[in-house]
Amino acid sequence: MYIIITEKQKNFIHRLVFLTKLRQKSNFEKDYVKFFLKEVVDLIRLSNGHQFDYVAASGSLGYDGTGWWFKKILNWLIKPKLFIAVGKTVTRFKEKGNFRWWNPLGCVKFLRGPNGLLDFIGVINAVALRNPGIEWLVKKVGPKISRKKLKLIASVYFKSETEMLEIAEMLNGMDLVAVEVNISCSNILASPFWHGPEAIVQNCRELKKVLRHPIILKISVEHEVEQFLPQLRGVVEAISINSVRWRLIFPKKKSPLARFGGGGVSGKVTQPIVWPFIMDIVRQTRIPVIGSAIWDYGDMAAVRRMGAKAVSFGSVFMPYPWRPASFVKKEMEKKK
Ligand SMILES: Cc1cc2nc3c(=O)[nH]c(=O)nc-3n(C[C@H](O)[C@H](O)[C@H](O)COP(=O)(O)O)c2cc1C
Repeated sequence: MYIIITEKQKNFIHRLVFLTKLRQKSNFEKDYVKFFLKEVVDLIRLSNGHQFDYVAASGSLGYDGTGWWFKKILNWLIKPKLFIAVGKTVTRFKEKGNFRWWNPLGCVKFLRGPNGLLDFIGVINAVALRNPGIEWLVKKVGPKISRKKLKLIASVYFKSETEMLEIAEMLNGMDLVAVEVNISCSNILASPFWHGPEAIVQNCRELKKVLRHPIILKISVEHEVEQFLPQLRGVVEAISINSVRWRLIFPKKKSPLARFGGGGVSGKVTQPIVWPFIMDIVRQTRIPVIGSAIWDYGDMAAVRRMGAKAVSFGSVFMPYPWRPASFVKKEMEKKK
């Protein structure tokens, strides 16, 4: 748990502790401080009682949050249990996307930094919404969640009201922490179903009526948040941010994934765009934001200072699978 207390709040606590000591009510001090910290700690509390401060972003730890099958050998480094995982996005029906198992790096590329061969500053991906469909998730992952007591946020994408209703019904049968609604995949054409602020507000309100899980909305830096976030208070319980379209980061450079439309860029290189966007969201709404583009240890504190209430690790898992766990453990040690 991470605590940010302003000077004014600190003085307030000190005064209270002093008063309490005067009153010689031994438990009051402890209880009050506990109560007070509850209000200022940086974590996200959902209406169903779940809370989290470290998230593994969609696409990073597979569909069930325990890691991708081809990377499980690295789980001793990744330590999936340290995070609340968001599953890879599923749709109503199976989708092929661009990933091909015989050429896994065909639609994922690493962006190199200036400091040598092992210096990476981001990842470009055009995996798109490749997935086996929601029914697969319910049948394969649903029982595993209960059996292994997994804490999973399911990620879904739908492009019509019928799909929304069917997906919601199926998710209601699963034991989930929350449902992340991905309305911002940078590798697919935006669906007319999500076009414009009115549609976003209406769809989220309709979804809330039929879904028993808290809703997390995954948006893009291209969304005009002031036009819909204020209306989503009480509907959406957290906001997350997707990768950024190539041309927004490199307007004059050709993408190595140009044949897929350019791809979505994630990681350190997106910070100059994603972080001001986080501040913008914080200015517009009190819905908690999950800060992303975390690449170095100091980035966690940086996004919290901007007002993010939890941090999310996504593309950093790819070049540096050990980093998120080492950051979390370091921070937990410091908080002890
Ligand atoms: C290979 C790869 C696959 C991804 N798949 C999904 C996905 O299925 N659904 C989704 O909402 N985001 C997906 N993302 C985006 C991440 O969840 C995250 O939002 C993005 O990487 C930005 O965060 P970061 O800069 O912290 O990495 C994917 C990202 C990568 C690199």
